Amino acid sequence: MSDNEQTNQSWGGRFTEPTDAFVERFTASVGFDWRLYQQDINGSIAHATMLEKVGVLTADEKTQIIEGLEEIRADISAGNFEWSVKLEDVHMNIEAALTQKIGITGKKLHTGRSRNDQVATDIRLYVRDQIDLIASELKRLQSGILELAEREADTIMPGFTHLQTAQPVTFGHHLLAWYEMLVRDASRLADCRARLNQSPLGAAALAGTTYPIDRALTAELLGFDKPTANSLDSVSDRDFAIEFCAFASILLTHLSRASEELVLWTSAQFNFIDMPDRFCTGSSIMPQKKNPDVPELVRGKTGRVNGHLVALLTLMKSQPLAYNKDNQEDKEPLFDAVDTVKDCLRAFADMVPAIRSRKDSMYEAARRGFSTATDLADYLVRKGMPFRDAHEVVGKSVAYGIETNKDLSEMSLDELQQFSDTIGDDVFEVLTLEGSVAARDHIGGTAPAQVRAAIAQARKQL
Ligand code: ARG
Repeated sequence: MSDNEQTNQSWGGRFTEPTDAFVERFTASVGFDWRLYQQDINGSIAHATMLEKVGVLTADEKTQIIEGLEEIRADISAGNFEWSVKLEDVHMNIEAALTQKIGITGKKLHTGRSRNDQVATDIRLYVRDQIDLIASELKRLQSGILELAEREADTIMPGFTHLQTAQPVTFGHHLLAWYEMLVRDASRLADCRARLNQSPLGAAALAGTTYPIDRALTAELLGFDKPTANSLDSVSDRDFAIEFCAFASILLTHLSRASEELVLWTSAQFNFIDMPDRFCTGSSIMPQKKNPDVPELVRGKTGRVNGHLVALLTLMKSQPLAYNKDNQEDKEPLFDAVDTVKDCLRAFADMVPAIRSRKDSMYEAARRGFSTATDLADYLVRKGMPFRDAHEVVGKSVAYGIETNKDLSEMSLDELQQFSDTIGDDVFEVLTLEGSVAARDHIGGTAPAQVRAAIAQARKQL
């Protein structure tokens, strides 16, 4: 950043002394809002195009402005642009560079607009661009999950409640639960995009402008659905950023829950999956270690994104209409939420299809935890026993199993019949893990056939 320019040259007319050097740094945002340069230039080009159409700029002035802005865009993209803190933000840096390039015509660009509607426009465009990138990365993760779920449609593992073995499920079914969370996240993201896609440009500082502007034209040029309806709201609203962060928080909460499971499953105690080495790191002291750092970090980064959501809500909660400088603080949390979501999605989308299940270990764990106890109760109910009595019979069988270190499926018919003579030798069909999962054969159930049908359905919708 250079500091050759004279401070407050764009608004210093009424000032009698230069800005305090610390205040200059304290109030500047160019250190982070330079990221908006593409959107800022696109917004300015649309504005200049409109100003020419309505007769505020001549055709020649418009052309000079657009050519100048395109040169600046190229300079910035090539790293040949010197940002100045004295010029406060991305908007004034670009405008000053334009005037330096094309002379007095550059000073006409800001006719009929304010940095207030300019920045509101820029951030909406930025969030919209990022939403589109994130939506496609989310899709990549979703199809990775489907790919793994298909490979694991028959793999049996224990399903848990309270992290205690509950009933057997298929690993494919478990993965489809992750998938469903992401379906809702994708739809939240699409909602956020649809609501933000209105153009604040033309609201000017807060009340609109006296020039005969055409807001519908700039809205159209920038790909917005329409202009926003109220100028005060246009320059002050940051709901869209809050909504984006809410989306980000919920998505990362989902990825964090999945991460927690991956961390557990890769541990020697569970030993359910193998994570390829390229997604893990070692320990500098314990040579045997292979740590699941990627899911751990995703779990950790969820906290920082939750923080950004709270930061934005708190930023807005006491602001009177319309624009306040507080709003400048919206950018860093928003940018960091965007970066973090993209990184976490990328990590997950790369990692998930590379996961390999340890089928024997999963199967063994399901077998050990009396996971077919409910199946035995359901069997007794089918034979005419009331469910509560069946529950009692099975409870006693489980107590016997704990004592004798046997799973229900490992007991003899005689052993089982101690608890109820309703039990016949057809019981073993329901006590097997395969029988247990296959029997849950309805929409949303864990039967391999249902898992395959759900995958086919999901592929159609994705
Ligand atoms: N850098 C400012 C922001 O991020 C731009 C708008 C400033 N407007 C103003 N009147 N000071 O919000």
